[in-house]
Amino acid sequence: MYLNQLKKKAAWAALNYIVPGTVIGIGTGSTVSYFIEALSTIQNSFSGVVSSSNASTRLLKEKGINNILNLNIFSSLEIYIDSADEINTNMQMIKGGGGALTKEKIIAGMSKKFICIIDETKKVNVLGKFPLPIEIIPISISFISKEIIKIGGIPKVRKNVITDNGNIILDVYNLNIDDPISIEKKINLLPGVVTVGLFALRGADIVLIGKKKGVEIIEK
Ligand code: A5P
Repeated sequence: MYLNQLKKKAAWAALNYIVPGTVIGIGTGSTVSYFIEALSTIQNSFSGVVSSSNASTRLLKEKGINNILNLNIFSSLEIYIDSADEINTNMQMIKGGGGALTKEKIIAGMSKKFICIIDETKKVNVLGKFPLPIEIIPISISFISKEIIKIGGIPKVRKNVITDNGNIILDVYNLNIDDPISIEKKINLLPGVVTVGLFALRGADIVLIGKKKGVEIIEK
């Protein structure tokens, strides 16, 4: 499929940003799966990886990348490579379409550089067409749903999904995210919220956009 070719282009371009001998933070999703494939071809160039999900850990192993390190060994990393469901011109993102937002946010927060790899369809002017995922503790569904409705969103529990951390995901439709930082802060404050998939306080530093004619690079 055409979109997969664009994802692949962006993913392979991310190899240029690897600092030799360092540990790389690995995101989750279909774009990242191309990055893992690319990474498996340069195994001597990095010392290990930390993974943001069980799915990525499985894929890393499948591709022969076995030096998967525990996140708690580190307090900072050189780079984190991940994709996004949507990204705006300020490099703020919606993430969590694949349900792995919590570890993704931890790794993004501890990384000096967040390199976001996307196909060109992920670029938007205003975030929110893609439903905003929130990982929540199961007993907080009713309360958080009520609070989300108050700010104009329509919450729906993601069916048949339990996160890597044993929680559930609420997908929020129809939310007007014209001020991503304030919405991120507001949702973060609700008791029962584990992580909101708005990456506005910590956005991306570099965006690699796979396009028909090559890869566009946007830097802060
Ligand atoms: C995983 O939880 C997400 O944050 C993904 O990074 C995001 O959904 C993008 O995934 P795709 O590359 O599959 O579109």
